[in-house]
Amino acid sequence: MKKTKTLLSLLVTLLFIIIILYSCKKDDEIEAIDKELYNMASATDGFTWFKFSSALLDKSSGSGHPQPYLRVMYNTVAATQLDSVGKIITGAAFAEGSLVVKELYENSTTLGRYAVLYKKVNDPNADVNGWVWGYINADGSVAESGTKKGSSCINCHSQADNIDYMLMNKYFP
Ligand code: HEC
Repeated sequence: MKKTKTLLSLLVTLLFIIIILYSCKKDDEIEAIDKELYNMASATDGFTWFKFSSALLDKSSGSGHPQPYLRVMYNTVAATQLDSVGKIITGAAFAEGSLVVKELYENSTTLGRYAVLYKKVNDPNADVNGWVWGYINADGSVAESGTKKGSSCINCHSQADNIDYMLMNKYFP
């Protein structure tokens, strides 16, 4: 009887260890590229807003993103492709290191998700045009990994009148 009890408590302890190890492993499973994109997207310093305005915009009719509000910002490299009113210049070509972040809002105050385009030509996650695609929730969990190379994004972002995939000019003229 005593032996069975010891065995049982040993099993329970083992089970606990397995559960703890498993939950740690799950955390590690967030890909490095998604962590990198999240860190860059959530550090808002030094970014320039589309049309120089941080006001939230109603999502457009063409949006493939579920959240009702958005705003888009460009890091210093990407911002070189903005014109005098803060729209993308015609025929823009974004240089290595360009970061374009679309903040998607659940309501007027709650940031829900980041949609990210990052130009990093030699990254193994980059598509044929050198862009890495990120889709990461505000809490850092991943909606669609950058390792998927934008497989659910590219078709829509390749539509007529895109500029190097950018659609803001088309839907917010
Ligand atoms: C069905 C079409 C569609 C799909 C699918 C889609 N998008 Fe978009 N995206 C848009 C439109 C339209 C805009 C312009 C803003 C708006 O109205 O939402 C936009 C804007 C953006 C922007 C801001 C830069 C710009 O000017 O386009 C980023 C970054 C972005 N999307 C990333 C993504 C990522 C990452 C995915 C895939 C996980 C994705 N998009 C899937 C339609 C789409």
